[in-house]
Amino acid sequence: TIPVIVDCDPGIDDTIALLTAFVSPELEILGITPVCGNQPLERTVHNALQVCELGQRVDIPVFAGCFRPMLREPIYGQFHGKTGLGNTTLPDPVKAAEPTSAVDFLVETLIKAAETGKHVTLCCLGPMTNLAVALRMKPEVAGGIERIVMMGGAYREPGNRTMTAEFNMLADPHAAHVVFSSGIPIVALALDATHQVILKPEHVARFAAISGRISETLAELMAFWDRNDVRRYGSRGGPLHDPLVMAYVLAPHLFRTERARIFIEYESELCMGQTVADWYGKSGQEPNAEIVTKVDADGVIDFFLERLSRYAEK
Ligand code: BDR
Ligand code: CA
Repeated sequence: TIPVIVDCDPGIDDTIALLTAFVSPELEILGITPVCGNQPLERTVHNALQVCELGQRVDIPVFAGCFRPMLREPIYGQFHGKTGLGNTTLPDPVKAAEPTSAVDFLVETLIKAAETGKHVTLCCLGPMTNLAVALRMKPEVAGGIERIVMMGGAYREPGNRTMTAEFNMLADPHAAHVVFSSGIPIVALALDATHQVILKPEHVARFAAISGRISETLAELMAFWDRNDVRRYGSRGGPLHDPLVMAYVLAPHLFRTERARIFIEYESELCMGQTVADWYGKSGQEPNAEIVTKVDADGVIDFFLERLSRYAEK
């Protein structure tokens, strides 16, 4: 099994990613570390706990992360509804978050992983504040990480929150800078990749046909995710941002990557949070990431359909 930590800010697409991970026995989910992102921290923690209950995985510990970005004022998500979970109301969680903070959990777990050699894959689905703070507290944390598979950024695509910035990068560009300068191997799933996988109404209908309470909730969340923006996405539907992180970890053959050095803009007002890739070796610096450039969209949709149909009758 692959030991993973899911760092996230649920969020509708975070929720789909978590539910996919929950039914994937290849993964050993050591913990979930919600951060301030799509919603204030209190809400992302609450949502994560609710999703664990929905997915019948209360065995996974949830550790509350940073309550605001490293330097900037918080910004919140725009397409996730008032609570972060669309129009869906989930029952109040029975379980509470762990008393340990996400940063302490990351530091302890990753330093131990560095010692035992059982390296952890970090699945980053939100602003990377938790990891950046952990790296600043204890640089040895880097030695416990197998690799970071993260959703964020926009290279040849324009931004989705500003003209130049994708939401997760804009929400905490300083954290992104710390992570991208850390030397840890990174796989970057940016809008260039996630805009190749649009969850269309006909796909949602296929998911809605899976029987059971959990699938019903999932289909409701997916229906809410429709951006109704044909000009931008080429059809009705919404991009499957965060779930692609899970698909990449579990089915990497569906993705093609190119190595490049990534830089984060954290000073300019106009380009704040922009991710810049050195595709042609202009910087004289070594590549620090694999950027996903091509996704087998049909293959990925089939992959999710197969995984999530494991909730049938549950
Ligand atoms: C990212 O922003 C958030 O709103 C989504 O959950 C995703 O992680 C996409 O830009
Ligand atoms: Ca997210």
